[in-house]
Amino acid sequence: MIAAPPKGPNGTKQEPEGGAPPRSSRASKILQTLKESVRVPEPRVLAPEIYGSAAIRNIARALPPVERAYAQIRFSILRPKLLSVMDLLLPDEGKILDIGCGFGLFAAYFGQTQPNRHITGIDPDERRIKMAERVADKLGLVNSSFMAKDARDMGLGGPFDAAYILDVMHHIPRDAQEPLLARLRDLLTPHGTLLIKDITTEPHLGLKFTEWMDRLMVGWDEPLAYRHHRDWGAMLVHLGFKVRMVRVPDVLPYPHVVIAATKI
Ligand SMILES: C[S@@+](CC[C@H](N)C(=O)[O-])C[C@H]1O[C@@H](n2cnc3c(N)ncnc32)[C@H](O)[C@@H]1O
Repeated sequence: MIAAPPKGPNGTKQEPEGGAPPRSSRASKILQTLKESVRVPEPRVLAPEIYGSAAIRNIARALPPVERAYAQIRFSILRPKLLSVMDLLLPDEGKILDIGCGFGLFAAYFGQTQPNRHITGIDPDERRIKMAERVADKLGLVNSSFMAKDARDMGLGGPFDAAYILDVMHHIPRDAQEPLLARLRDLLTPHGTLLIKDITTEPHLGLKFTEWMDRLMVGWDEPLAYRHHRDWGAMLVHLGFKVRMVRVPDVLPYPHVVIAATKI
């Protein structure tokens, strides 16, 4: 005689041994299927570290001692707060122009944090451009290239989805600043971003501190033409940009301002 399958507590039929798996294992199978059906986000949409500290370490390692010391000073001035703000304001892909790229520190930084960016760095100083190429080479960065050119030269390529100019505008003679911004606007695609990091003129003591530091680097003959962030804003609006800006505090008294201008 075949025994009838046992009944559950509420009279429901219970599966015999070897039939359907018990409820707990069925639940874990469902859970597993659910997990597999939920797409794991690509790693680059996660924040893998607090900011690109690994990128900075790589860059420092790729430089000879003197430039390494400069890079360490530069990255300690442009602290995580500033770097992260700028990183998030730049598009995560597309063609980006780095004007006055120097040793290419920030091209190497922004190129590492988002590998789908292609960054073109330009600077009139050939020695710095050679160093920028060496750093990119050592880091195996295939998404950056460099040219020894002045921002006012022709043949910079483009149009660019974004351009950034970090602590360069106050080294441009006052009368040449607006024409340079107009030129950069013309190099951008519609709705392209122009990101400017510079020094504003208040508080006055902060400006004086910056001026002394700049003079240590460039000597007494080179013109330094700082402007109040309001002036930069008005100039950019006049040139056809929509403008947002933020002043970023620092433990050192640098009066940093970050300006994100979108070409209308
Ligand atoms: C203070 S350094 C900043 C370098 C780099 N952007 C950084 O943040 O480390 C200023 C740079 O602007 C470059 N520069 C000055 N005038 C320029 C111009 N007209 N076009 C392009 N670069 C220029 C200088 O050669 C120098 O490398």
